[in-house]
Amino acid sequence: MTKKLYVLNGPNLNLLGKREPDIYGHETLADIEARCRALCQDHGFELCFFQSNSEGQLIDWIQEARETACGIAINPAAYTHTSVAILDALSACECPVIEVHLSNVHKREAFRHHSYVSLRADGIVIGCGAQGYELALQRLIALNADTE
Ligand code: DQA
Repeated sequence: MTKKLYVLNGPNLNLLGKREPDIYGHETLADIEARCRALCQDHGFELCFFQSNSEGQLIDWIQEARETACGIAINPAAYTHTSVAILDALSACECPVIEVHLSNVHKREAFRHHSYVSLRADGIVIGCGAQGYELALQRLIALNADTE
């Protein structure tokens, strides 16, 4: 069976390309999804790529990934800094988790410096823009190769 990788995106990331492009870049989420899909296809992985503005929906997808995925890349957006519930959902997963942020959150406001999700993440990609998603997937693919 083809191995599945999940890429999950939190609130306001549906506005990528239009939202504060000086911070988040000009690429849309659809552009990022296309890059991720090409990478997964090249390596023989199935990609499940989702975005939601709702915390509960993100948790439902994490719980789905817990059953079916061999890796999760997640940009929880603002929930990074607030959501114990997303941390708990990720902590219930055994597969590797990579946290992604387009912007360098450490160069920004102090409230963005703390991440609940980092307490569970196996790796973090910060400030690499849209390319950060590909870096996260490459890491998940490598970790899966190590376990074969
Ligand atoms: C973000 C950083 C968060 O602080 C912010 O709330 C976002 C996007 C990023 O990708 O840089 O919405 O996760």
